[in-house]
Amino acid sequence: MRPETAVAIHLEDYAPAPYQIDTVDLDIQLSPRSTDVFARLAVRRHEDTDPGAPLELDGDELELVGLTLDGMPLLENAYSATPSKLTVNAPPEEPFILEIKTRIDPDTNTELMGLYRSSGTYCTQCEAEGFRRITYFLDRPDVLSVYTTRIEARKGDAPILLGNGNPVNAGDLPGTDRHFSVWHDPHPKPSYLFAMVAGDLAHVADTFVTTSGRKVDLKIYVEHGREDRCAWAMDSLKRSMKWDEDVFGCEYDLDVFNIVAVSDFNMGAMENKGLNIFNDKYVLADPETATDQDYANIEAVIAHEYFHNWTGNRITCRDWFQLCLKEGLTVFRDQEFSSDMRSRAVKRIADVRLLKSHQFPEDAGPLAHPVRPRKYTEINNFYTATVYEKGAEVVRMLKTLLGPDGFRKGMDLYLERHDVDATTIEAFLVCFSEATATDLGQFARWYDQAGTPQVEVKSHYDTRAGELTLDISQSIAPLPGQASSEPAVIPLRFGLVGPNGEDMSFDRVTGARLQEDVLILEEQNQSVTFTGLKSRPVVSLLR
Ligand code: SER
Ligand code: ZN
Repeated sequence: MRPETAVAIHLEDYAPAPYQIDTVDLDIQLSPRSTDVFARLAVRRHEDTDPGAPLELDGDELELVGLTLDGMPLLENAYSATPSKLTVNAPPEEPFILEIKTRIDPDTNTELMGLYRSSGTYCTQCEAEGFRRITYFLDRPDVLSVYTTRIEARKGDAPILLGNGNPVNAGDLPGTDRHFSVWHDPHPKPSYLFAMVAGDLAHVADTFVTTSGRKVDLKIYVEHGREDRCAWAMDSLKRSMKWDEDVFGCEYDLDVFNIVAVSDFNMGAMENKGLNIFNDKYVLADPETATDQDYANIEAVIAHEYFHNWTGNRITCRDWFQLCLKEGLTVFRDQEFSSDMRSRAVKRIADVRLLKSHQFPEDAGPLAHPVRPRKYTEINNFYTATVYEKGAEVVRMLKTLLGPDGFRKGMDLYLERHDVDATTIEAFLVCFSEATATDLGQFARWYDQAGTPQVEVKSHYDTRAGELTLDISQSIAPLPGQASSEPAVIPLRFGLVGPNGEDMSFDRVTGARLQEDVLILEEQNQSVTFTGLKSRPVVSLLR
């Protein structure tokens, strides 16, 4: 974390961006030590913004080398530029074109954020705030723009040039040793999903035909000599595409889907639109050396990044507090995919083990934070087991509460209502609430309270009356900085096992709502009574 950015940001301070950027035309002229980036931004004042309000664009270690507004150079007192901010003091009221030229040095960018070059390959990572290291921008997830990217490089350095979206043009620059390619992404997206790659890479190719008959060219790019280790990743990709159509009705929406595997990458992988970039350990598998677990991980990460195309890219986060909106949901989706591809029980055991070994300690210690935090100083520190894994469990609970049909109805509404939107956890929950006529007000506490609830159950059987009573209480150990916790909605799947090993029937339940084999806990203390039992059952809880 750089000291000048160490300012706490609060969820309640959210305000929409004062300006919108409708289109972004980039021309990136690659050179290892000095890459020129020309950005042409179509800027529009938000209707609620005062005319003439300054336009402040984010930067990070940037050098401004040119600036025009509607084609005219700006006078010196009309703007100010530092490495971390470009301010246009009094922009026009009407929409305007801002052209910005910056110069960056991919070779010395060792943060691996923004545009960097490693092992001879140019590569980007823009989530969460890396795009501002390429050009000045409203670098926040609620500014959705249509991008066209022209990439130019020496043919010898980078015979392969890749961008987001569909390739629309390519060629040589006559009389030079350079060439270019142009990519257009018709889907409006936030800047964190921008990506480009350029280098001398090999690839494997395949195709997928979507349910509506769109043919998609699939390619996985790797270092030369590694092509024969991509077969499993490609197979996983095609199965992911089919599964998302079958299970969530989500169809792919571009003519190409490219994956690039690089050896120097900060995150596991990144879901950039149409151009996923991976740490190569989640792509390459050789039957001679890869373990079963390696295969399972590749399958899961390929699926995870692919599934972000809908849950993350077409529907993104309004602000970084909502990170679990895309991550919790997408982890849930990749868990379900793996469960369908292999053993559901084995997958569940593995996920619960991970939760207990990584997320429970996080949630009980000094780094405990809610699935949706309310405050951060450095968003990169919030890519945590709580946001990802607990976030996925909360979605899983939602499915348990609403049942598979109710859950699917809510998802359908969410995917339809919020397509091309940057939204919030509240808006997500409203879709499930509306689609199933369920009040999820109390359920929402799962997103706001840190800590792992402890559920304690004491059972008492009255032989004469044939009644079983469960005294159930829930609590969260006090956490620093969190007011005492309110009871959460906890679905408790259970059975009452009879003498022959079968689940026993009972007449009725009082003291809690019952949905099929799930008790819905909603109070700090609940006394739940089952009547009409023939003999004392063995209580089987948390199935
Ligand atoms: N957005 C990335 C992912 O989770 C960051 O790791 O897929
Ligand atoms: Zn993700």
